[in-house]
Amino acid sequence: MITGGGTGIGAATAIACNAARMPVVIAGRRLEPLQTVCNQLDRGLIVQVDVTDPDHVPTLLDSAEEAFGPPWAVLANAGHGLDRTAHGTSEAAMREIFEVNFFSTHLLLQEAARRMIARQQGGHLLATASCVSKFAPPYHGAYAATKAAQDLYCQAMRLELAPAGIHVSTVHPGTIVTDFFDVSANLSGRTGTRSGIDHTPKMFQQTPDRIASAIVKCLRRPVPEVWTSKLIRLSAAIRTYFPKMLDRSMRKMLESDRIESE
Ligand SMILES: NC(=O)c1ccc[n+]([C@@H]2O[C@H](COP(=O)([O-])OP(=O)(O)OC[C@H]3O[C@@H](n4cnc5c(N)ncnc54)[C@H](OP(=O)(O)O)[C@@H]3O)[C@@H](O)[C@H]2O)c1
Repeated sequence: MITGGGTGIGAATAIACNAARMPVVIAGRRLEPLQTVCNQLDRGLIVQVDVTDPDHVPTLLDSAEEAFGPPWAVLANAGHGLDRTAHGTSEAAMREIFEVNFFSTHLLLQEAARRMIARQQGGHLLATASCVSKFAPPYHGAYAATKAAQDLYCQAMRLELAPAGIHVSTVHPGTIVTDFFDVSANLSGRTGTRSGIDHTPKMFQQTPDRIASAIVKCLRRPVPEVWTSKLIRLSAAIRTYFPKMLDRSMRKMLESDRIESE
């Protein structure tokens, strides 16, 4: 089961899971992209939900169970970015991004875990966090905070649920070419300046298929964290020991006129 399954990483993962012969449930707000993905699935189900509505959790899990039986794996993937300075982020915008990226993950994985524990047959819970769960670039503080929250939440969950045979994994994409950057720019009122992707050299940009096949590999052989860039993973490790060093390289992303304008 994949939230945000109609586009980008979620859609590619749905298609990769289908190729691995899994039945797939995809969820999101817009029917059209979900339908396009579902047409490519042998055993697919669409559930149209907004993950900020708490009722989406029973709706999703019950529909999945009815169609294919209890889901083995649940991927909390729906999310969006925000391209604002930390001090320029309003309380409302901060609460909204936490609702979509973090609270929806909490509500879905919590209920999925409870059902898996009750069934006593194990399972696999996953969340699409980000590489920025480990280090925050400028203008993405609010977004990075939601991803760090997902990451730490899942770390604890992984330890707590291991005795019940339930795996918990976080996915840490770098820069993946999807609608994410346009959506983020639009939500931030910064149309035309996709700061995350425009600062990333092409050689570090990856396709959603790359992440999708790593997720399928993780479903087969569960690992705590899924990464598809060794260099970015190394940067995260270096940052822990040498925060100043990473700050220096991140300063290249600073735009001289932004502090004043926000
Ligand atoms: N692209 C990257 O470089 C990158 C890097 C690191 C992490 N990520 C993470 O990867 C995940 C997927 O992003 P993506 O890159 O695949 O971008 P995307 O194509 O924009 O996918 C986001 C998906 O989330 C769904 N969504 C957003 N708000 C929702 C809501 N309130 N209720 C239900 N569904 C909602 C969207 O569908 P609807 O609009 O139809 O609802 C969409 O399918 C996100 O969590 C993102 O933070 C992306």
